[in-house]
Amino acid sequence: MEQQLKKLMAEAEEALARAEDLDELNGIRVRFLGKNGLLTGVLRGMSKLSAEERPRVGRLANEIREKIEDTLARRAAEIKEKVKTARLEAEKIDVTLPGTPFLTGSKHPLTAIQEEIEDIFLGMGYSIEEGPEIELDYYNFEALNLPKDHPARDMQDSFFVGPEMLLRTHTSPVQVRTMERTVPALPVRVIAPGRVYRRDDDATHSPMFNQVEGFAIDKRVTLGDLKGTLQVFAEKMFGRQTRTRFRPSYFPFTEPSAEMDISCGMCGGKGCRVCSYTGWLEILGCGMIHPRVLEVSGYDPEEVTGFAFGMGVERIAMLKYDINDMRVLFDNDLRFLKQF
Ligand code: PHE
Repeated sequence: MEQQLKKLMAEAEEALARAEDLDELNGIRVRFLGKNGLLTGVLRGMSKLSAEERPRVGRLANEIREKIEDTLARRAAEIKEKVKTARLEAEKIDVTLPGTPFLTGSKHPLTAIQEEIEDIFLGMGYSIEEGPEIELDYYNFEALNLPKDHPARDMQDSFFVGPEMLLRTHTSPVQVRTMERTVPALPVRVIAPGRVYRRDDDATHSPMFNQVEGFAIDKRVTLGDLKGTLQVFAEKMFGRQTRTRFRPSYFPFTEPSAEMDISCGMCGGKGCRVCSYTGWLEILGCGMIHPRVLEVSGYDPEEVTGFAFGMGVERIAMLKYDINDMRVLFDNDLRFLKQF
């Protein structure tokens, strides 16, 4: 019987040495020390022993039980430690590795230009107004001195969405909408940025584009004020060396009307491909607000005068960034947009 016990002990030690996880250890505990385990099985034969043998075998059995329990505890601790080390090893983070770059966006060139225009005029005391992109014929044409069959409507090929409603062809309707609200307050200095729509589509025209309208009304506003304001704008936008010139033009809602050119920034006015060898680049339309427009908006043209101008944001972006095809501004191609 002592032999049996020693053999059992040796088996248990060997099994414990080989065990790799806690489940296995538990299995060994049950197999050797459990109520129906091997040790109990051996001890069941104790009754057959003589009275002298019994205490010795009993002691030996107890020693073996204790030894197995000790080893179990030691192996359990070892295995737990090994699992922990393995986990730490697996989850190790190398904080010196370069990070994953974070994709950041940037402002669209049109947004950047529009904000630059806004900043320049905010600095001159203007405030910003907006108007609807789907506009009434009344505000887009009629109130701007463009009655129903006026030939000047041809200058602005339009998208009508109903008999009296269209996608606005310019930001000028915001002049009338604003004045209707501010009358009779003076002075009024407003810029109105926004999208406009015309039936044009080629390298320098898009059916949707952006304008910034500007106007100022007060007592005794003159053409000199208009020219001074736009000269300041041109210098801030295109650089101190920029010169301006005003050519007579026609808009039904201004009288007199003009187109403003700036000296070509590419050649400094000497003439080059960009300015078609003229030395000048057209950037906006402007004029003194027509008395009839003041009148329909509620202001008295005998008391009040004003100037107005409207510029294309795309055109200014193209000049400033030397872009020769307007369509790249709407393509959303990152290879283009990342350059700004
Ligand atoms: N609304 C005109 C256009 O779109 C521009 C303009 C605005 C001209 C204000 C004069 C005064 O062509």
